[in-house]
Amino acid sequence: MKYLMAANWKMYKNRQEAQKTASELFAKIGTMPEDRELVIFAPFTAIETTAESFKKNGQPVKGFSVGGQDLYPASEGAYTGEISPGMLIDAGATWVLTGHSERRAIIGENNAFVGQKTAFAMNAGLKTCLCIGETLAEREAGKLNSILEQQIKEGVKDLSEDFNPDDFAVAYEPVWAIGTGKVAGVEEITEAHNLVRSVLIKLFKEKGKQIRILYGGSVKPDNATQIIKLDNVDGVLVGGASLQSESFAKIVLA
Ligand code: G3H
Repeated sequence: MKYLMAANWKMYKNRQEAQKTASELFAKIGTMPEDRELVIFAPFTAIETTAESFKKNGQPVKGFSVGGQDLYPASEGAYTGEISPGMLIDAGATWVLTGHSERRAIIGENNAFVGQKTAFAMNAGLKTCLCIGETLAEREAGKLNSILEQQIKEGVKDLSEDFNPDDFAVAYEPVWAIGTGKVAGVEEITEAHNLVRSVLIKLFKEKGKQIRILYGGSVKPDNATQIIKLDNVDGVLVGGASLQSESFAKIVLA
């Protein structure tokens, strides 16, 4: 299983900025170590330029991928403002995020809709990273386990039985640790990731052991090594610290 080192650029970077950061990253990392791969979840308008920055002699380079931050679960149609998996693929994306906590909180996406998106993306041939995580209030009310279990179950409920576990990942991002500088402690990360793993095994048996579980929430160059060493942590999903090539390159090579 390769570590998945993912950047979520959120609503930052125009095409020129994306091209600059991606090219710098490409140069700083050079050959991607065999035990890991990188994906940049870029804004829709910057997917193509980011994917182009990761090519050598016009060919995509192993270990460097680009994804979209969201999709609409339909191939095409009258869905003003939305984007289809086919459009993401056409722009150069091979991955997509579903269920990011900012979309759940700001746009109001619920577990059922996130589940529809996840299955639709996978069926359309996009590798998919389902994001889950509890708010501080939910954690303090002792609901950590039930919230995560529910988000996973509903998030994967329509996945077809024969999906490839390399093409699906779950990102655990405690909402209280996103963009706050408050990284979850080693014990908190271990507890949550073990729980996610046990739910995945309950749902998918052997295959559940091969699905990558990423941690997200204030990952920085100085805590990344410690985090990815933990059991059941198979990568990271990085927001703020992924915007600069210098800090994200350090994290990718942690
Ligand atoms: O998707 C990434 C997360 O929202 C983490 O963001 O690294 O800025 O805390 P952050």
